[in-house]
Amino acid sequence: MRDAVLSPGKRIRPLVALAAGELVRAKPAGPLAVAIAVEYVHAASLVLDDLPSMDNAVRRRGRTAIHLAYGVATAELASVTLLARAFEVLAREAGIAPDLRARICRELAAAVGASGCCGGQAADLAADPAALALDDLESIHARKTGALFVAAVRGGALAGKANEAALEALTLYARNLGLAFQITDDVLDLEGDPDRLGKDTQRDAHRANFAAVLGIDSSRALVTELVETATAALTPFRGRAAVLADLAGYVRDRRS
Ligand code: IPE
Ligand code: IPE
Ligand code: MG
Ligand code: MG
Ligand code: MG
Repeated sequence: MRDAVLSPGKRIRPLVALAAGELVRAKPAGPLAVAIAVEYVHAASLVLDDLPSMDNAVRRRGRTAIHLAYGVATAELASVTLLARAFEVLAREAGIAPDLRARICRELAAAVGASGCCGGQAADLAADPAALALDDLESIHARKTGALFVAAVRGGALAGKANEAALEALTLYARNLGLAFQITDDVLDLEGDPDRLGKDTQRDAHRANFAAVLGIDSSRALVTELVETATAALTPFRGRAAVLADLAGYVRDRRS
């Protein structure tokens, strides 16, 4: 569990959670609990994603994949335990009002479940890329990756008692950002530098991969468009959303 979480990841999901909390002037403890919980969920999802029964990856964050370092059974148990720990961290955070704590837990649970990450991963594994329409691909990516971005941003904002209008704008931001993030991941799977990425490339070209279906140039153009839409969603916050806007620029330009 320690290796899965503390290995050098980019921490983009916790960053967007913290920035959303700061935007609505939350006290730091609430968004921090959301940030930790979301990164635990993410780390758990990576351990599962790398298993031989899923992507059969050997390297993650520049290190040996968890199931190769500790065995498949330990990897599976670590992943489930990290998921449980995520909800424990949230549920005990006294810095978030109890009703909002319950709502954040519910939204995070939905982001993990059948309409979120796990459902998306199942659809990804079942997909036939040759028969995949762009809409299906978008729906897979929105669930397997986008849902956790939405939970991170909304969770950070809810911890600061954000109103519905702010939540709606932030949801639009996060949906577009999450989709852009996974499309870039697909592009980097085709043309990225494995050492810089800390994981092997060319593994998902035969899968539900945007860059394989749409081509690299069109995928990059789509990422630019999605990041523009994400940034435009921040307009109601005027200059106060500069960190979220910067993070969107990072998602557009990242090489690792
Ligand atoms: C990898 O996520 C899995 C995807 C959803 C694309 P990241 O690229 O955020 O992985 P880390 O946390 O930086 O290792
Ligand atoms: C993983 O997508 C999405 C998750 C929910 C973990 P990928 O399979 O493309 O992620 P990487 O490339 O292995 O990091
Ligand atoms: Mg995968
Ligand atoms: Mg993978
Ligand atoms: Mg990938």
